[in-house]
Amino acid sequence: MSMGPQSLPIGVFDSGVGGLTVLRALREALPRESFLYLGDTARLPYGTKSPQTVERYAKQSAQVLVDRGVKLLVIACNTVSAVAVETLREQFGPLPVVGVVEPGAEAACAATSSGHILITGTEGTIRGGAYERAIRRRRPGAVVLGQPCPLFVALAEEAWTLGDVPKLAARRYLAPHLDADGALDTVVLGCTHFPVLAGVVQSVVGPEVTVVDSAMTTAGAVRSLLEQLGLASPNPVPGQLALLATDDAERFARVGSGFLSTPLRAEDVELVDL
Ligand code: DGL
Repeated sequence: MSMGPQSLPIGVFDSGVGGLTVLRALREALPRESFLYLGDTARLPYGTKSPQTVERYAKQSAQVLVDRGVKLLVIACNTVSAVAVETLREQFGPLPVVGVVEPGAEAACAATSSGHILITGTEGTIRGGAYERAIRRRRPGAVVLGQPCPLFVALAEEAWTLGDVPKLAARRYLAPHLDADGALDTVVLGCTHFPVLAGVVQSVVGPEVTVVDSAMTTAGAVRSLLEQLGLASPNPVPGQLALLATDDAERFARVGSGFLSTPLRAEDVELVDL
């Protein structure tokens, strides 16, 4: 079997378990690839922290994956992708680094007709304006609104994705943006946790509005990049999965099973110190 860089795993990291939604999309799109995932559960959430702190944490998380040997780095966390992609590219280049913001912006531009797009995310992601800049680069006339939805993170971690409570939260966050002229036609789920709330978001914004999931578009971007760089796995068998966390393997496994849609056991999660 080839031991070239093609056989190395893809490194994926996030502030915690939410990035498993991105890992799930990656594993579905790239079943022969192996993945090494790190969730910085000891320091979650990143979404309420300053860009400087998020950048420092992100460098430490990425370093663990790089030290273990990965062929490509995926930043599953939207908050990190919004503030630290360039810093990580400078620090770890020539290792390819893929964030979720550019693929999410690409998908939003492909989905919109009116050019009115709403970005949902953590406070940090919305405050930084990275999605807005990425969308405007592709479509200069776009009207891009941002809505922090911090409660969605907690609801998703509770697996509380159906019923009145998530619906009321979604209404509170989204209804003010559904303008009377109906110009808004695209909502971006710009946070690792939000894909599990896609159903409730769709029910609040209505069937005319496209809900874009950056996890799926990121998986497509990673596939193209692997092909372009000649880094796709040559192995004919399904890839392996290794999981690392900085705190509480039991909670990671319990909450993470929902995000990954695969049962996980605490013994499957290795604890690391950053
Ligand atoms: N992973 C974060 C994101 O996608 C959400 C959770 C957090 O705030 O750390 O923005």
